[in-house]
Amino acid sequence: MASSKQMKMILLDDDRRYTNFALMAAEDIHEYAVMIKSSRIFARAKKLHMGTLNDMLVVSIREDKSIERGQLGLNAESCKFLGISAGDEVNIKVFVPPSKGLDLSLLRIEVDLRDGSSTHQPVLASDFVREFVKTFNKQIFTEFQSILLRYGGNSYHCTVADASLAVEKNSPAPKRGMLRKSTKLIVEVSSSMSEQINGAEIFKSIFRDGFDMKSLEQELISLNIGGMTSQIHDIIHLAFGSRMVSPANAKRLNLKHIKGMLLYGPPGSGKTLIARSICKLLNAKEPLIVRGPEITQELYGASERHIRALFDAAEKDEKQYGSKSDLHVIIFDEIDSIGKKRGAAAGSFQHDDKIVNQLLTMIDGTTELNNIFIIATTNRKDLLDEALLRDGRIELHIKIDYPDEQGRKQILDVCTRKWRQASLLDRDVDLQEIARRTIGYSGATLASLVTLSHSYANKELVDLDPMRLVKKNVKLTMNHFLRALEQSRVKLQESKQLR
Ligand SMILES: Nc1ncnc2c1ncn2[C@@H]1O[C@H](COP(=O)(O)OP(=O)(O)OP(=O)(O)O)[C@@H](O)[C@H]1O
Ligand SMILES: [Mg+2]
Repeated sequence: MASSKQMKMILLDDDRRYTNFALMAAEDIHEYAVMIKSSRIFARAKKLHMGTLNDMLVVSIREDKSIERGQLGLNAESCKFLGISAGDEVNIKVFVPPSKGLDLSLLRIEVDLRDGSSTHQPVLASDFVREFVKTFNKQIFTEFQSILLRYGGNSYHCTVADASLAVEKNSPAPKRGMLRKSTKLIVEVSSSMSEQINGAEIFKSIFRDGFDMKSLEQELISLNIGGMTSQIHDIIHLAFGSRMVSPANAKRLNLKHIKGMLLYGPPGSGKTLIARSICKLLNAKEPLIVRGPEITQELYGASERHIRALFDAAEKDEKQYGSKSDLHVIIFDEIDSIGKKRGAAAGSFQHDDKIVNQLLTMIDGTTELNNIFIIATTNRKDLLDEALLRDGRIELHIKIDYPDEQGRKQILDVCTRKWRQASLLDRDVDLQEIARRTIGYSGATLASLVTLSHSYANKELVDLDPMRLVKKNVKLTMNHFLRALEQSRVKLQESKQLR
């Protein structure tokens, strides 16, 4: 067993942090000398100094006169990886190189500009790789550790996404090895960084170009959705959280992709609207939208074929592109008609059961498919076969309710936006008052209230000018809204009586 020792950590916050070396006093360093033999060039063995910190991270060590005996100078990136802060004790052991070899055959790093680092001249990925190898040659890299590289006036934050040894060992120990000139180094960047490091591999963002979560509110207004920003914000985080972080972070945090979500709630609450709109924010293939009733109306056998076909493109893409495949979204609108509890009805409903079975088979068959996401909507969650809603299937369930007063006001704002922009909304229109008077209204009823008000205004214009000779724009007034409100109340009353 290598002997271990506690040392006091000193944070390196000057230029020394960029070397990624840990620093020690001359009196301590000799204990950490190791003979590393390259597995390729046996003849040339070289003495290096290395230590294993907290059994997690292997660092290369250099002597530094400013460091006192018993202290260890470390940069912030190593401290973060170890979960320690300045002044903490750190456990250090002599590094014992594995007998089978230490050379990395492949090192994959995710690169970003360090916070606050301004962008200078773009660099070529091949030059970046050369600089990285020159700077960190013969250092040991552990999966998920971070390093800073200063190059071309920029400071780059690099995270190890994969570290594969030339001689693969089958052990649960962290993946790590020594960077050599022979190591294949792959630089990966997000699409927003692709111009900064030219020619690097790009990992796709889950969001389409030009959209990020900060602009969600504006984006929803432009999609004519009101009063749902915080709920849609939460839905996106729950459904796509694992896809919003870089691949290395998803792997490090052991995040599992959610395969499907169910939006349920009363009629007209905006489920279909949300399902379609979320797709417009994503960097994904055009969603396949199927209405449940359309599938059940198909002939015996054809429904199952239809369901199978929906998953074809995703399967093909996964085979061809693996983790780099586009995301495929399938929307099952009104899924209650194809996902009814099996065995609920006798005999003649075997067709429905077969459809559910087919759907389950397809969803389960996609275990290895990381490129698929199902959005189902229903206003009858109680009718659904529970097997569909289990973990690994349509597992995320989100209730979409009718809006409160503030939500109603925001929906009215969005629905009247075009008239307001064209100065066709009279000053006397008090949307807050209308919101106050529409308790229990769904988004759909509010949207049709605005349409109805518009019809009243149009009618007035036609009454004034039956031949429609005067081309005049009509203004929406509070009066039109109040008449529409009266009318929609009567309608609501009638539908309640009918129920
Ligand atoms: N939050 C909202 N903002 C703006 N418009 C809305 C909102 N919610 C609903 N609407 C309007 O109501 C219409 C109907 O909504 P949608 O079809 O999404 O309801 P649903 O919940 O799917 O209903 P169902 O259960 O009957 O299928 C939308 O097309 C839109 O015009
Ligand atoms: Mg709907």
